[in-house]
Amino acid sequence: MKKIGVGHASVSEIEKKYVLDALENERLSQGKYVSKFEKNFANEHDLKYGVMCNSGTTALQLALATLIETEKWDHNTEVLVPAITFIATSNACIHMGLKVKFVDVDPITYNMNPRELEKNISKNTKCIIPVHTFGMPCDMESIMEIAEKYNLRVIEDCAEAHFAKVNGKKIGSFGDMAAFSTYVAHTITTGIGGIVCTDNREYMEILRSLVAHGRACTCERCVASDGNQVCPKRLQTEIDRRFMFVRLGYSYRVGEIEGALGLAQLERKDEIMKKRHENAEYLIKNLEEFEDYIQLPKHPNNVEHTYMMFPIVVKERLNASRQEFVEHLEKRNIETRPMLPLLNQPIYKELFGNIEEQYPIAKMIDEKGFYIGCHHGMDKDDLDYVIENIKDFIKSHVFY
Ligand SMILES: Cc1ncc(COP(=O)(O)O)c(C=O)c1O
Repeated sequence: MKKIGVGHASVSEIEKKYVLDALENERLSQGKYVSKFEKNFANEHDLKYGVMCNSGTTALQLALATLIETEKWDHNTEVLVPAITFIATSNACIHMGLKVKFVDVDPITYNMNPRELEKNISKNTKCIIPVHTFGMPCDMESIMEIAEKYNLRVIEDCAEAHFAKVNGKKIGSFGDMAAFSTYVAHTITTGIGGIVCTDNREYMEILRSLVAHGRACTCERCVASDGNQVCPKRLQTEIDRRFMFVRLGYSYRVGEIEGALGLAQLERKDEIMKKRHENAEYLIKNLEEFEDYIQLPKHPNNVEHTYMMFPIVVKERLNASRQEFVEHLEKRNIETRPMLPLLNQPIYKELFGNIEEQYPIAKMIDEKGFYIGCHHGMDKDDLDYVIENIKDFIKSHVFY
C-alpha cells in the first residue's frame, strides 16, 4: 500500500537539466548556479542579498555569529526563542555560546506569542528569533514593535514558511536577517542546504566570509572563481587575498549541484505553492465539520499561509488521545509527526530541567498535536484517503 508521507521532493526535467549542466561544466564548488540562486531566492523575499550554506541550522548559526561580531555580544547574551520549534533554532543559539529563553506560543497559530515576549526581556536580552512554523507567518508587526521598543535584533527563522506573507510583506523581510532551510521536505529544496538573506550589506559581507573559513575577500571573483577572472586585489597583499582569513570562520558552503537544484525549484515555485495551497484548502473544507473535535490550521485574512505541513490538534471533546489518533493513521500508511516538541526533549530536560509547566500552550500542543502532509506530491485520491481515515477515527471516538 502506498505511503502518504509528510514531505515530498519532486525532481522535474528542469532540475535534471541544470544539475547536468553543472556537471558538464565541471564546476562543483560555488559558481554561477549558487550565485544566481542566492540572488533570486533573496529577491523573491524582497531582500537584496542571499548567502547559501549547508543547512538551515548553519544559516541560523551564521546569522548569530554575524550579530555576535557586529553587536559585540558576550556569553550572557539572551536570545528569545519560541517554546515550539524544531530543535535546531535553539540549538544554534546554544552552539554559538548564547543563552536561550523560551517564549510560549499562541494556541491557534502555534507561533511565538508577542504578548508573552515582554515579560521575558531582561537587560541581557539582545535578540528575538521568531519562527514561522508549519508555513504560518508570525505576527511580525507586533514582534517588530517590541524589538524596536527594546532595541533588539531580529533573526526570522523562515525554514518552514518560504514565501509566506503578512499584509502583503514577505516573511524574512521584517527582521535583520532571515534563515531558511532547503532540506528535502521544505517548499524549495536543494536536497540538503540553507540560505541566509538580508538587506544589510555589512551583514552580507560578514556572512559570506564566515561561510568560507573567514575569508578576507568576498568579491564575486574570489567567491566563485572560475580560474579566468582574477580579483584585482588578490596579489596586492602579503598573503594572497583569496587565501587570507580575517575572522574565525566555518566551512559551511555548498556547491553547484545544490545551486542548480535550488534554481530549478525556484522556477517551479508557483506550481509547488499552488498545489500545496489547494491541498490544504481541500483538507480544511472536508474536515471543518469536525472542528469541535480537532483544531485545523487557521490564519487571519491578512496572512498568506504556505502550508509546509498540515497541523492538527486534538480537542477535549474527542474521546481519544493523540497517541490513539496517530496510531490509527500510521496503521493506514498515513505518516504523522509530532508538532515540534522541544521542552520535553531528553537533552533539553538535561540542559534546562523540567520547565514544561511554565509554557502551558506549548505543553498542550506537545500532548495533543501532530501533523500530516499536504504537499505537492499528494493527489485527490491521497487527500480523500486521508480525509476518510480521519473521519472514521473521529466518528468512532465522539461523545454523543
Ligand atoms: C523551524 C526550523 N528551523 C531550522 C531548521 C533546521 O534546518 P536544517 O535541517 O536544514 O538544518 C528546521 C528544519 O527542518 C526547521 O524546521
